[in-house]
Parts: sequence; structure tokens; C-alpha cells
Amino acid sequence: MKGGIAIGFLLVFLSSCYYDKAEELYPPGNCDTLTVGWNSSVKPVLQSKCYGCHNAASANVSGAGIALEPYSNLQSYLNSNANRFLGAIEHGSGYSPMPKGGGKLSDCELLQINQWIASGYPEN
Ligand code: HEC
Repeated sequence: MKGGIAIGFLLVFLSSCYYDKAEELYPPGNCDTLTVGWNSSVKPVLQSKCYGCHNAASANVSGAGIALEPYSNLQSYLNSNANRFLGAIEHGSGYSPMPKGGGKLSDCELLQINQWIASGYPEN
């Protein structure tokens, strides 16, 4: 009986360690990186955080000439500047941190965008 209790404690202890590690590997809040898509995951983020300045009409005025909308413009930007795009949203040194004047994207948004770009940024 005593042994059973000790094992019970051990299991609780081990599973809490495991949980701590999982928290470090994955951002909190159940980030879905399995079904990342342009329409479901990436476009909504750009719509709310980037297109105010980088849409096709305003890019030359407020977005330094970088049009990230519609998808075809984003695609051609990424074809030659995917690293720059990621550097900007990751706030990497040497890049202008984006969104300009706004808070950094969430860990989950960054994970999903990274994954979408790594998979060839399909219009899915
Ligand atoms: C308030 C307007 C504004 C918003 C919102 C904004 N940008 Fe920008 N962006 C700019 C301007 C202006 C520049 C030119 C560099 C600078 O002034 O910092 C720029 C530059 C960039 C660059 C080039 C960075 C470099 O270092 O060369 C990228 C990539 C970029 N933006 C992507 C984004 C993305 C992705 C978002 C949304 C997550 C976003 N921007 C949101 C205005 C904005």
C-alpha cells in the first residue's frame, strides 16, 4: 500500500516534469501547427496586423513599397525575400521589426507562419 502511494507520487512528479518541458517546446494555448494554411492561419494575421500598411493600394504610401496583398504580391515578395520577411516578424537584428508600431506577433502566429513559409507558402 505504501509502495503504491510512493509510485503515485512519483508518477505525478514525473508527469509534471514532462509538462514543464512540453511548455517550453510548444507555446501555451494549444498552437495548431498541423493544419496550417494560407486561408485559415496566415491571411487572417496579415489582414489584421499588416495590410493596414502593406496592402496593394497603400504599400507605396505607408508600406515602403512592399505590397503583401493580394496573395500574388506576397508570393513574389517571398520568392526573393523570405528571410527578410521572417527576420522582420521575428524582430531579428538588422531587420525593421514588424508590425511597425505594433506588438510582436504571438509565438503561435510566428510558428504557423514559419511553418507555412517552410512548406513553400502554398495558397491553400
Ligand atoms: C504602420 C504601418 C506598417 C505595418 C502595420 C506593418 N508594416 Fe511592414 N513596413 C512598414 C514600413 C514603413 C516599412 C519600411 C521600414 C521601416 O520604416 O521600418 C516596412 C518594412 C517591412 C518589411 C521589410 C523589413 C526590412 O527589414 O527590410 C517587411 C518584410 C514588412 N514590413 C512586413 C510586414 C509584416 C509581415 C507586417 C505585419 C505583421 C507589417 N510589415 C506591418 C510599415 C508597416
